[in-house]
Amino acid sequence: MKFLLIYYTGTFNTRFLTERLEEALRAHGHETNRVEIRRNTPPAETNGYDFIGFGYPIYGFNSPLPFNRYVQKLKFPPGQKFFIYKNSGETFAMNNASSRILLRRMKRRKAVFAGEYHFVMPYNIHFAYERNFVREILQKNEKLLEILVHGLENGNAPRIKSNPVYNIASAAVSVQKAGGAFNSFFYRVDPEKCTRCGLCAKNCPEDNIRLENGKVRFGHRCDMCMRCSFFCPANAIKIGLLEGWKVNGDYRLGEILREGPPPQPYITEHSRGFYSCFIRHFAKIDADYEKLFGEKN
Ligand SMILES: Cc1cc2nc3c(=O)[nH]c(=O)nc-3n(C[C@H](O)[C@H](O)[C@H](O)COP(=O)(O)O)c2cc1C
Ligand code: SF4
Ligand code: SF4
Repeated sequence: MKFLLIYYTGTFNTRFLTERLEEALRAHGHETNRVEIRRNTPPAETNGYDFIGFGYPIYGFNSPLPFNRYVQKLKFPPGQKFFIYKNSGETFAMNNASSRILLRRMKRRKAVFAGEYHFVMPYNIHFAYERNFVREILQKNEKLLEILVHGLENGNAPRIKSNPVYNIASAAVSVQKAGGAFNSFFYRVDPEKCTRCGLCAKNCPEDNIRLENGKVRFGHRCDMCMRCSFFCPANAIKIGLLEGWKVNGDYRLGEILREGPPPQPYITEHSRGFYSCFIRHFAKIDADYEKLFGEKN
């Protein structure tokens, strides 16, 4: 079968997930193409695909604004099958509402829903995840990718259930509507630290950064994707009102995946507080995987 994967990514977690999904699909003999959304990415040609997969990172319990805008521009043949592979740092139930705009738009176009899957990926904001936690996350994701491919091949279309309360609450905290433009007034670059390497300007998906007379300048087209500050090799960028939540430094996900699972399970039945939401999420992946492929964890 032929798959088109359309995704938006800030700090490349969704790109990594898309690459892993492509590998899983190709290992099953399928053909894949992908489109990464940036400013001015032309609408993809969607004809001739059995499935379209939509990938996005959750921002404030919502899909990112540039992702929504891009999907709005796409045209689909009637009956087009589509699925969603979204990701976020945690799995609080309010994240369940994040696809509501996409689902509504696809329903209006009479596209056929083929499943929604929620992956955990390490936070690119708030705080950095410990390496052993990332190892565990990536191993669970490999299983979930197999579950996803099996679901598409066999016509299972799992839904992630939301409810009106989550829908209203997530619409209310849609951080990006004005957040990126507003916050970018407060971005600063530490001239002592900045090496003028130009990476931030080259990488920004909105072409919102320029180097002018040796100084880094920000416009106000910011998606709040965190790519500039996350990958700045000198950790020189201050991200305005979110500075206290800044994460700087590439996780190097490929390397961590190759390391395999952590020596001890990171999430256990005793995990508490922030980490308790992963207990059910990981247990469900293990149970679904075992049911389909008959392997113990
Ligand atoms: C502005 C912003 C808002 C975010 N909001 C959430 C959130 O509501 N819930 C969550 O679990 N993670 C949230 N995250 C974390 C990202 O969803 C997560 O790290 C994701 O893997 C990033 O993917 P990317 O590298 O493809 O951009 C947020 C990140 C950013 C930058
Ligand atoms: S990536 Fe960092 S060090 Fe390089 S130009 Fe931008 S702010 Fe300066
Ligand atoms: S300015 Fe930074 S946070 Fe804003 S869109 Fe560009 S790379 Fe992302």
